[in-house]
Amino acid sequence: MEKYVIQGGNPLHGEVEISGAKNAAVAIIPAAIMVKGVCRLENLPAISDTDTLLHILSYMGAKVTMINRSTVELDCTHVNMDALPERMWDLTRRIRASYYLIGAMLGRFGQACSTMPGGCNFGDRPIDQHIKGLTALGATVDVSGGFIRASAKEGRLKGAPVYFDKVSVGATINIMIAAATADGMTVIGNVAREPHIVDLANFLNSMGADVRGAGTDSIKIRGVKHLHGGTYTLIPDQIEAGTYMAAVAAAGGSVRLSNVIPKHLECISSKLREMNVQIEEGDDHVIVRRDGPLHHTNIKTKPYPGFPTDMQPQMTAVLCCAPGRSVVTEAVWNGSRFKYVGELKKMGAHIEVEDQSAFLEGVDRLTGSVVRACDLRAGAAMVIAGLAADGVTKIEDINYIERGYQNLVGKFRALGADIRCVDEPEEEDDLLPEDLNAG
Ligand code: EPU
Repeated sequence: MEKYVIQGGNPLHGEVEISGAKNAAVAIIPAAIMVKGVCRLENLPAISDTDTLLHILSYMGAKVTMINRSTVELDCTHVNMDALPERMWDLTRRIRASYYLIGAMLGRFGQACSTMPGGCNFGDRPIDQHIKGLTALGATVDVSGGFIRASAKEGRLKGAPVYFDKVSVGATINIMIAAATADGMTVIGNVAREPHIVDLANFLNSMGADVRGAGTDSIKIRGVKHLHGGTYTLIPDQIEAGTYMAAVAAAGGSVRLSNVIPKHLECISSKLREMNVQIEEGDDHVIVRRDGPLHHTNIKTKPYPGFPTDMQPQMTAVLCCAPGRSVVTEAVWNGSRFKYVGELKKMGAHIEVEDQSAFLEGVDRLTGSVVRACDLRAGAAMVIAGLAADGVTKIEDINYIERGYQNLVGKFRALGADIRCVDEPEEEDDLLPEDLNAG
């Protein structure tokens, strides 16, 4: 089983280039199903979630041509609605974003079928707002036996007003995709405003759609007859950038992050500044430096432009080493997004979770231990904790991390971190040197 092994304690120095945004990529790839023609996508992250989606599209009949590591050409002209072979189900069950296939297939063919989506397990992940939106556009949606089946009346969706009861990134994206070629106007209220919502709108518009208002809390979509091919460059990943910023905060040092949009990082930057981390912003880069002691603070997650829930575990890992009391409150996910706290405790962190909040008492140093990645961002938090800890940390279940971070080991090694990916047989766990079992 592959694991990350980190010898902690090295400060980070140098430059890291941030990859394209995962959550934009996983929306834009399915949206390409709507396009009859060649879509060239640039700045695509090389991560397992995008690989999975590209496989799904190619099973559906799309021509997928990798031009280089971050550029792909997708030709969905011959995608076939009947081509949902059983071998695809395992893939669609693996990732969250597979529910965007429903919006895209409904938009293109007037009918759709997929498995219920997978993704990180934060407890209950309802899709009622997706169903509400698709139903408003005239679809009949049936969720049963682990499948979602939908069909549009008379084979075509009709634009309509939609108002979400809850701000949902996924539901906003799904309805934007489905409405792009519906008959007439769709107005979606109480929508998510994350940077990848704006990126999806820009992608759809560059393929001939008419989407306005993305980035505000109401989006208007005038349906067009069809979308045409074109070239689109994805935005950089806000959360990957935030993760490297948090790693510098925890391990110390000075790192320049290139290929970022500093505006998207504002809420992360301002929290880190409160924690005594220096941030300098350029046009498309930020420099992060930490040479003094960390200060404690409180964090509460919120939909964009609030503090991102996808940075909550990483910041908790940093705050473990900030002397004093910090409180981290999760207000986006109802279920627990604090499962990883038990892993940080193995490393000597003082944290207690009550309802939606984690209460931390900073310690001088964490201690290396054997921990697991409970989900994607929780895994990133373990890497950060390991980089800052004394001794060796081994992280198991790294497949979660590789779903969303391109070349994490290579990027951290280039910054001076002592991190390796090793393929170790299970039994070796019984023979760990003492320091690995500490904490
Ligand atoms: N919700 C509902 N009903 C719905 C949809 C969502 O009640 O129909 C609730 C959820 O239970 C949650 C809240 O609304 O409490 C927000 O969920 P949202 O739909 O915004 O989340 P998502 O679309 O499933 C995306 C990201 C997540 C990220 C959230 C919030 C993708 C593929 N996933 O999930 O990213 O945490 O938005 O920003 O875009 C990650 O990248 O690690 C990750 C988990």
